[in-house]
Amino acid sequence: MRLAVPPRLARFRPGEFLMLGWDEGCDPFLPRAMSIRSAKCGVRSAGWEVEILYKIYGRGTALLAAMRPGRFLRALGPLGNAFEVPRSATGVIMVAGGIGVPPIAALAESLAKRRTSRRTEMTVFLGGRSKADLLCAADFRRAGAKVHMATEDGSSGYKGLVTEAVEEFLRTSHLAPRTAHLSGRTSHLAPRTVLYACGPHPMLAALMPIAEKYDLPYQASLEANMACGFGACVGCVVPVKGGEGHRTYRLVCKDGPVFDAHHILWA
Ligand SMILES: Cc1cc2nc3c(=O)[nH]c(=O)nc-3n(C[C@H](O)[C@H](O)[C@H](O)COP(=O)(O)OP(=O)(O)OC[C@H]3O[C@@H](n4cnc5c(N)ncnc54)[C@H](O)[C@@H]3O)c2cc1C
Ligand code: FES
Repeated sequence: MRLAVPPRLARFRPGEFLMLGWDEGCDPFLPRAMSIRSAKCGVRSAGWEVEILYKIYGRGTALLAAMRPGRFLRALGPLGNAFEVPRSATGVIMVAGGIGVPPIAALAESLAKRRTSRRTEMTVFLGGRSKADLLCAADFRRAGAKVHMATEDGSSGYKGLVTEAVEEFLRTSHLAPRTAHLSGRTSHLAPRTVLYACGPHPMLAALMPIAEKYDLPYQASLEANMACGFGACVGCVVPVKGGEGHRTYRLVCKDGPVFDAHHILWA
């Protein structure tokens, strides 16, 4: 869906999101969080447009799908934080599970535009139950990424979970698994390959031991039920590692949605 927006809403970094709500009545009462897929100066309209890509899940997204051109939505944003790509990264591995793809595709496009003397090699893994769940493959290829697919029913690419495909890729790549005697040394080296992911919680959690095994910095974009989107309702907490082995909490909307996955308490 493309939304005509004021220019300030179109200035976004990959990972940031909008809270979209309805102007008429109080049903649905709460706005819905949507990642910004892309933004551009409109072709048909005179001003700025942002694009969102969504799956019809419940009442709110069904109402979005029923909207027709010319109707209004309330939009708040861009909210949250963004993926960070260290200058030293020479490679990125991006994993998008199902409808987790919009911020990952935005990241790939922003990396493609990044002006650096050397290119950042992009490898993308798209995972879903079946072929129909794999979105934006052409966009990733246009951005210069190598695209791998994985489907649980085997209708496209690797048959199985996308995390298994990532593990298989790393096993056969030049990235050696971390070993006990190397771990102290490698963790002080500047990151060269960084892992980024957005998708269902079990997928994000399953990537954690893989990131640890290959000593990869790992940024995960989390989802939570959000009622406000800016830190007021405290409804979107996620447990993270605090000091001295204690558990503490962060807000997905305000401190995230992108987190250093090594800090999250996945269990
Ligand atoms: C940062 C972020 C980015 C997202 N980006 C996308 C995207 O790009 N595309 C996409 O398809 N989906 C995205 N989602 C998921 C999307 O927000 C949900 O699929 C959507 O809210 C479902 O709304 P619904 O009305 O269809 O479903 P419903 O199940 O009817 O409603 C879910 C909504 O109910 C509210 N809610 C339910 N329980 C609670 C609770 N306990 N506390 C507070 N609020 C509650 C929230 O507003 C929640 O969004 C994103 C989610 C987050 C957090
Ligand atoms: S959604 Fe309200 S505090 Fe995060």
